[in-house]
Amino acid sequence: MILDTLKSRFSLAISGIIDGVSEYLDLIRPSQDVRFGDYQANMAMPMAKRLSRNPRDVAVEIISRLQVDDICDSVTVAGTGFINIVLSESFLAGQLGKVVNDICGMGIELVKNPKRFIVDYSGPNVAKPMHVGHLRSTVLGNAITKMLRFRGHDVITDNHLGDWGTQFGMIIFGYRNYLDADSYRRQPVEELSRIYRLVRGKMDAGDQEVSANVLAETAKLHSGNADNLKIWREVMPYSMNEIDSIYERLSVTFDYTLGESFYHPFLADLVNDLTNRGIAQETDGAIGIFFAGSDTPMLVRKKDGAFLYGTTDIATVQYRMREFKPNVILYLTDFRQSLHFEQLFKTVKMLGINDVEFSHVKFGTVLGEDGKPFKTRSGDTVGLNVLLDEAENKAFDVVKSNDRSGLSNDECREVARNIGIGGIIYADLSQNRESDYVFSYDKMLAMNGNTAAYMQYAYARVRSIFTKGNIDVDKFREKIISDEFKPELKSEAERMLAKEILKFGDAVDFAVKDYRPNLLTAYLFDLANKYSTFFEQCPVLRAENELIKNSRLMLCDLTATTLNKGLELLGIKTVERM
Ligand code: ARG
Repeated sequence: MILDTLKSRFSLAISGIIDGVSEYLDLIRPSQDVRFGDYQANMAMPMAKRLSRNPRDVAVEIISRLQVDDICDSVTVAGTGFINIVLSESFLAGQLGKVVNDICGMGIELVKNPKRFIVDYSGPNVAKPMHVGHLRSTVLGNAITKMLRFRGHDVITDNHLGDWGTQFGMIIFGYRNYLDADSYRRQPVEELSRIYRLVRGKMDAGDQEVSANVLAETAKLHSGNADNLKIWREVMPYSMNEIDSIYERLSVTFDYTLGESFYHPFLADLVNDLTNRGIAQETDGAIGIFFAGSDTPMLVRKKDGAFLYGTTDIATVQYRMREFKPNVILYLTDFRQSLHFEQLFKTVKMLGINDVEFSHVKFGTVLGEDGKPFKTRSGDTVGLNVLLDEAENKAFDVVKSNDRSGLSNDECREVARNIGIGGIIYADLSQNRESDYVFSYDKMLAMNGNTAAYMQYAYARVRSIFTKGNIDVDKFREKIISDEFKPELKSEAERMLAKEILKFGDAVDFAVKDYRPNLLTAYLFDLANKYSTFFEQCPVLRAENELIKNSRLMLCDLTATTLNKGLELLGIKTVERM
């Protein structure tokens, strides 16, 4: 990766001048403007400040110690001590060759110190409708997992299902009192969600008796009552099928699905241990953990003996440490759970769990076009399958009206599936995850702008050049490798595109660093735009000679490969024709 190479060269040069080199290396960046070279290094100013020297002199000294003849055409000082770096054509061409040589790994070296991550994401609540918030967790978690794996980390994914909560008390109570046996036989999922909504409605309306019954049924389930367990086991698969169908449509899989129910047997001992060690105290008949400077304890056992979400999460950390020995655990939920996770992380420290890094990768709310949390017109939360259907149907219209290659209806459907689902995924990932975002089919399916459709279309367009020119991509790559072909990068547009392709690894690293897939989508959008400029200015199949034609075909192929890889890491599929 270019940035890595520059960093290691600068590291050698600077270490002779100052200590604490690494903070200065972060000041090497791609230039915003080609007039300042390809990359800029801005460390001379802060270094000079610390050394009480003149920044220009420091810059000159850095350059005199810098050994970059093999990769740069020039390195110059500008202004008060900026260092402008112009990469050489032969270096860029050589780097492009490396990518062709290692198409699947994109010519990128894996991280030197791989870590073991557990990514805890999705976590829908079984027997309740899965909502857009869980979609966001699913899509983000999946992308983060793929990016981490691509960089060489060892990632274990675990779906912490909510399969043990009060919703089962509601279902069990509803099952006993309101179930329509006939409907249940015919459409179990619909009937279960009807009784769930019925009971929910009564509780929301303040029906104390129903609420008390629901709690009692939940408690009976938790204490191992055989009848309640039987109903739990009976209804679980219906709801799981529904959830799995969504995962299938999104092509999301998990290494483990250890729901809350899995941890139930550990909870009584855990609470005892917490109290014995003085970490948890009694409060109003309940048991909770108190934290300095805060009035809100984390409850681990209610007055009636029930355990809570937090109790389960503590047990989950203990289990994961024992079984998986991770270096990092990531949790993907919306920001409303911030306090929960802060308390959880503090608690497990008190339990002596120190050699693991925790991160709550939090995100904002999905809003409707009215700016309020996303709901259907009837006020219900939108069922995810309906949402995905809608996206695919709308995508079908878009595909049909933009079709230039004469696809059949079935082919359009197939393409629309990827455009529709890809649109939903991309719309979500292209936002800063911490902001709320407005869900809009029209925006996410737009053929222009920072959307999956635009990127997928760019990909298909590049691939069509090879079809049109009757060029077999694999043979073309083989020839590049065997000839050790060096592309010519004479025009600005070609050079810009080449540099952009070579920034892929850095883009993934930036995105991984703070778990922000939107940095990767932003990169892909830049790449697609650079490609557009290149395509307008540089004829490919009708280039003036064979050398230039092959150079441009190589850029085309690498653009397509990079778009494809980038989308793949985000969990989005490309289509060859559209
Ligand atoms: N089921 C939870 C919810 O719907 C999300 C679970 C997140 N993971 C965890 N370990 N707490 O809010």
